[in-house]
Formats: sequence, C-alpha cells, structure tokens
Amino acid sequence: MTTARPTLPSDELSLEASSSNALSRPLVLGIESSCDDTACAVLDGEGRVLSSVVSSQLAAHLEYGGVVPEIASREHLRNWPAVRAQALSLAGVALAEIDVVAATRGPGLVGSLLVGLSVGKAIAYGLGKPFFGVHHLEGHLYSPFLVPAPSTSPSAAPASASARAALPDPAHAVPERFIGLVVSGGHTALYSVLSPKAGASAVDTLCETRDDAMGECFDKVGKRLGLPFPGGPVVDRLAELGEHKRGHAPLPARPKAPEPRTLFFRTSRCGDTLDFSYSGLKTQAIVEVERLEREGFVVDPGELMRLSGLEPSALAQSDARASSQFAAIQLLAAFRDAAVRQVIDRLDRYRRSVACSRPADPGPTGPSPTDPSRPKARLAHAPRTPQPIRELGVSGGVAANRALRRALVQWGERERIQVHLVALAFCGDNAAMIAHAALRRHHQGETGDPLATDAKSRLRVG
Ligand code: KG4
Ligand code: ZN
Repeated sequence: MTTARPTLPSDELSLEASSSNALSRPLVLGIESSCDDTACAVLDGEGRVLSSVVSSQLAAHLEYGGVVPEIASREHLRNWPAVRAQALSLAGVALAEIDVVAATRGPGLVGSLLVGLSVGKAIAYGLGKPFFGVHHLEGHLYSPFLVPAPSTSPSAAPASASARAALPDPAHAVPERFIGLVVSGGHTALYSVLSPKAGASAVDTLCETRDDAMGECFDKVGKRLGLPFPGGPVVDRLAELGEHKRGHAPLPARPKAPEPRTLFFRTSRCGDTLDFSYSGLKTQAIVEVERLEREGFVVDPGELMRLSGLEPSALAQSDARASSQFAAIQLLAAFRDAAVRQVIDRLDRYRRSVACSRPADPGPTGPSPTDPSRPKARLAHAPRTPQPIRELGVSGGVAANRALRRALVQWGERERIQVHLVALAFCGDNAAMIAHAALRRHHQGETGDPLATDAKSRLRVG
C-alpha cells in the first residue's frame, strides 16, 4: 500500500514577497522543544539567522517552582503553530521554500521532544525534504559561531524580511578543532570537538558534572532565597551588586552577629579527575543562608527582586547596603565567584594535563605559567583525540553569566587562547542552534536521518 504525501495548507505555500531568492541554499527550518521553550528558526545556507523565535513557558510552570513535564508537552502543542508562523514570516520565507528540516531528538523531556520531533518529521515528509534529528548538545556546542542579527534577542527575532535593510551576517567558520564548554541547567561539561576535515568527526566528553549542573546549582540557591525559577539570571544580577575580593565577601553587622564575618566558598574538586561538582557548593550556600537567618538577617525575596533591577552605583548610594538583603547579595557574590572559579580551575587543569602529555607541542598552548608543577589531572573519559586547547567555544544558558563571561575572556587573554563566547541571544535553548548543527551535517554530505528517528530522554553526544 502506498501512502499519499499530505498536502500542506495553501497559505503556508504562498507567503507573499519572499526574499529567499537572495539567500543561499539550503534554507533550514530548525525546531527545538527539549524542555520548556518552544522554538523555531530559519537559517540560510551560510548560517545566517533569518529568524529565531523562542516562546518561553515560564509563566505556566511558575507556581510549581520547576518544569512540570506534562504541562511542558501541552504548552509545546499549544505554542507551536504561532511560533512556526512567526519564524517563517519574520524570515520572509514560505514553508514550501524550506530545503532541510531539523528538530532536537534528545536529550530532554520525552513528551516535549516528541512534539517538536513529530512536527519536524511531518513537515519534512510533507515537503519531501531531508530531515535531521539533532542532539541538543551538538546544537549548543556549535552555537558560539552563530551571529545574531543586530536586533535579535532571545525572545524576539530579527526584523521581518520586508523591514530588513541588509541580510544578517553568515555564521562564523567553525574551527577544525576546539574545546567546547557547555554550561546549562542540565549540563556542565567539556568536550573535544573535531570536524571531519581534521580527521574523523568526533565529539568526545572530556569531563562532566558528577552531580548538579552549574545552572541547576544557581536555580536551587535562588529557590532557597525564595526567588522565582529559574534563579540563575536574578542570582547573577544580585551577585553583580555585591562587593568581594577574590571571593571573600564581608557581611553587614547584626545584633545577633556583632562580630564582622566574611564569607568564602571553596572551589570543589573531584579527586584528581577533571569532573565538575556543584552540589557541595549548592549545599554550602544553602547552609550559609540558614546561618544568616539564625544571625537575625531577614531575607525578603520581593525586596531582592526589586534590588536586582538596580545598578551597582544606585545600590551604593541607598541604605540597602546595611540591610539583610545586602547580606544575601554578599553571599551570592561569593557563591557566584566560587562557581566561576571552578570552571577556570578545570580549564587550567585540562590545559596542563594535555600540555604534560604532549611535551613536544610548544605553540600557544605550552605549559601554563600559573603552576606547571602540579600533578597531571586525570580525565574522567579518555578522549579518542586528546587535544590541546587552541580555541574554546562556550555555550549554554549559564554562558550568559556576567562573571563567567568576564573570567573566560580574561583567561583566554592570559593563556593566549581564543575564546568564542556564544552571543547572549543564543545562550538559552533556541532553534537557530539546531538548524545550524543540521546545516553543518548537510554541508558535510549527510543526507539526513530516517523519519523513524525517535526521541530519547538520555542520549550521549558523539
Ligand atoms: O541552556 P538552557 O536554556 O537550558 C538547558 O538546556 O538547561 O539553560 C538554562 C539554565 C538555567 O539553569 C538558568 O538559571 C541558567 O541557565 N542561567 C543562568 C544565567 N542565565 C541563565 N545561570 C547563571 N547566570 C545567568 N546569567
Ligand atoms: Zn540547553
């Protein structure tokens, strides 16, 4: 029995005034629905982000303090038609003009993944075009090379095709080899990434978190302070208001704590491995919040939210510096510093471990001047292709963290390593990164994945 290909609604085939003639092919439609963001993007063959629409479900999950899988799937179903329509119309591309369709196949919430994957496969089948099921982390790994259109924000796409004076810039060339740092709510890991030109295409996990991910740690500390989910962005803004010297943050005095006290958070290690660990830091932060409360500080989440909107200079002039809220701000400043120090520690130790195992490789990656005598760190997973760091790509939601961005730029300058920070528009989950990963595979000669490709809640990369 043969099945007739379904016909697509005529309005989707006849969007007026398409600018796609000027664009390079293939035009790729990307879909991302692995967690609580419904996203759709259109890229051209040079990786230009013609549109990137992300619809957040935060409001639907707010009262639960986290993402509820069943609600997430239903929200994806509800949001998808509008998100897709907006992405196509902002790109000025008709659905019939799409050449390649890509959707995230895992890891993530299965119900959520299934929505994006199913619509992606259906569109590809309807158009008779190739379909790529993309690993979510592959999307993040290559996202630092995407160039946002000037007006692209995480939730708003570039100007519509008619309003767009010039085409957005193409994506930057992806280096043949680089180290990828992914820091998000679900992952904190270092990868070694090789493109086919550099030999066999491979993504090797060098080290990952043993317990909490960095973003998860920020979220849980934020939750203990009563801040709305996800706590990461507001914890970052509050920490920006604090004053610490190398992670040592003095607390304001209290009747029950008249002796001045300074907070400090240690950098967690996992023995001699390079693995990350954020649960110890999270626990210490929560214990410190409890201690503040015992000392008579009264943390007020509403007031913290208000203060998080202030500039540091405005806070310095207000009397908030003597308040309980400033104690929480100081705590968060020291906490964030420790969280960031752990990333720099792992990068330093990875760099040294590879430099030690490759004495003949001087180049810009010679032994670190910081502490060459330290013992070599052990990699949790032996990479197929151990490589020195020449270029570092940084991606994931936590890559928006201000202190982390500053520390990575400084580290790159100090170590003479090129650091590619993902643009703020593409830190969080988005579909441009999914389309981009598929485009790379297409350019490498891949013809796509079978329509039987299934959603996977757990999926190793590489
Ligand atoms: O990549 P993403 O959007 O989703 C996952 O794949 O996890 O990352 C979301 C995570 C959340 O934990 C959120 O709190 C965290 O990224 N995040 C931040 C910041 N912005 C987002 N964490 C720290 N500082 C930020 N500025
Ligand atoms: Zn993600």
